[in-house]
Amino acid sequence: MKKVLSGIQPSGQLTLGNYIGAMKNFVELQHSHQCYFMVVDLHAITVPQAPEALKEQTESVAALFIAAGIDPDKASVFLQSHVSAHAELGWMMTTLSYMGELERMTQFKDKSEGKESVGAGLFVYPALMAADILLYNADLVPVGDDQKQHLELTRDLAQRFNQRYGETFLIPEPYMPKVGARIMSLDDASKKMSKSNPNPGSYIALLDPPDVIRKKISRAVTDSGREVKFDPVNKPEVSNLMTIYSHCSDMTLEQIEEKYEGQGYGSFKKDLAEQVVATLEPLQHKYQEIRSSGAIHDILRKGAREAVEVANSTVQEAKRKMGFLLP
Ligand code: TYM
Repeated sequence: MKKVLSGIQPSGQLTLGNYIGAMKNFVELQHSHQCYFMVVDLHAITVPQAPEALKEQTESVAALFIAAGIDPDKASVFLQSHVSAHAELGWMMTTLSYMGELERMTQFKDKSEGKESVGAGLFVYPALMAADILLYNADLVPVGDDQKQHLELTRDLAQRFNQRYGETFLIPEPYMPKVGARIMSLDDASKKMSKSNPNPGSYIALLDPPDVIRKKISRAVTDSGREVKFDPVNKPEVSNLMTIYSHCSDMTLEQIEEKYEGQGYGSFKKDLAEQVVATLEPLQHKYQEIRSSGAIHDILRKGAREAVEVANSTVQEAKRKMGFLLP
């Protein structure tokens, strides 16, 4: 069976962008692939995190995985920090990386722009991400568009390792939704929807209550026209809302265009809000259940046991190839 690995950072509220770009595909792939889904807490500390907030967010993201429909009997759900092989292979991948290629990463450039001091962890972050993927010899990595460049680097590092030390790692492929790999902000369609945006009106959090969702969608920026038409170049705002609509309703973009022909944006936005609420309400309900049951700890322990087995064997193999003396 082909393998899948992906991760999400526990650094703030998860958004509809995370859901459409990544999590929805996690849920789909678990039926046909051997899947590993983790909360990447080691990645989160590349920027300062308050310890209590990190704990809460980590548990929250793990519970959201399950609430979104990941079945812990099908997929291994775990925390990155519970599998020490990530840090170990991460270091080995750091030593294989060049400063120049890390400097070219747009996410690093964005996150470090204008900052007086930038943590070294933020800089070497993609090497750890490469280790995450290569430890499981993942064939597919479901991610949104913003992670494509990190995936390219992962492929380069895997090839570099294989060339220097002999065939060890599989070269992974990104797996992205055809539309929805980049969900944009509700207040500015030139920026991606992001949990780190200081304006909460710019994103829909997976745990936003229904009334908040309705308000945010009614205030979402549109153009001054009235045609519900998918045209990302000339109508980026409406196209973004249509993408969200399509993912939350399973209607195609064409069907949405037909349904709202000649109607303007009013009823389109109203219905969109109801579709989003109908998608998130059951998820939120399940989330509350999981959080109050405390079941997440057992799920994470089981996931870590499964992950450790695979990851330890890969890291041993990589160490042997590199010339480390094994105990
Ligand atoms: P993170 O935590 O920023 O985001 C998690 C996933 O959500 C996707 N995503 C989006 N997709 C569409 N539209 C958006 N507006 C949007 N915002 C976020 C991201 O592309 C991602 O797939 N470095 C990764 C985490 C990571 C990882 C890995 C991923 C660490 N190790 C190994 C895959 C494999 C990150 O920061 O994602």
